[in-house]
Amino acid sequence: MKKIAPSILSADFAKLGEEIHAVEKAGADWIHVDVMDGHFVPNITIGPPVVKSIKKVAQRPLDVHLMIQEPEKYIHDFIEAGADVVSIHPESTPHTQRALAMIRDAGAKASVALNPATPLFVLDHIWEDLDMVLLMTVNPGFGGQKFIPEMANKIQNLKKKIERMNPDILIEIDGGVSGDNIEKLSQAGADVFVAGSAIFGAEDYAVVITDMKSKI
Ligand code: DX5
Ligand code: ZN
Repeated sequence: MKKIAPSILSADFAKLGEEIHAVEKAGADWIHVDVMDGHFVPNITIGPPVVKSIKKVAQRPLDVHLMIQEPEKYIHDFIEAGADVVSIHPESTPHTQRALAMIRDAGAKASVALNPATPLFVLDHIWEDLDMVLLMTVNPGFGGQKFIPEMANKIQNLKKKIERMNPDILIEIDGGVSGDNIEKLSQAGADVFVAGSAIFGAEDYAVVITDMKSKI
């Protein structure tokens, strides 16, 4: 079952609870939470206390994307706060496998997020540790950027590898996803579609999410 995961980065932070209710009512499957530290990416967002507050109002799983240096220092805090799926970047730690094992040990689904220029061979020795691979389809740091066209091939290549290695692993894509490109990206093999500006920038969230779901 393919999923739509609205990224709250583009929501109105002054009324986050209402925004989460609104996208859930509109058909969101997961809530995507972007955590940025001002070091790994040039932007700062939120930490575990906000995730804990979101957990109290959200009915859908929290998909927490850690764009932070040394994620292993904070994995427990985010899972304790309510993260159901946690993505870490191998570019942000020398201990990718350790970080993934920590996520599973703490009871969440484990995922690696790859920057656009990070090759797929970084996955070669961690297949056993993965529930999902998040392919960044823009450079991480900001919402509202343009999808990098070459990433469509990367999705296809990842799909082929996953079919060989472990077909249960999900492919999530994040950045520049909209009603205009989602059909093609679904055909390329993506399973979970993060969308921030395309959903929260619209008048009616249900119109966008329904349109996206009809295309995947
Ligand atoms: C970017 C974040 C994304 C972002 C996507 O670093 O990881 O989740 O919110 O936003 P859009 O859909 O606007 O590209
Ligand atoms: Zn994200």
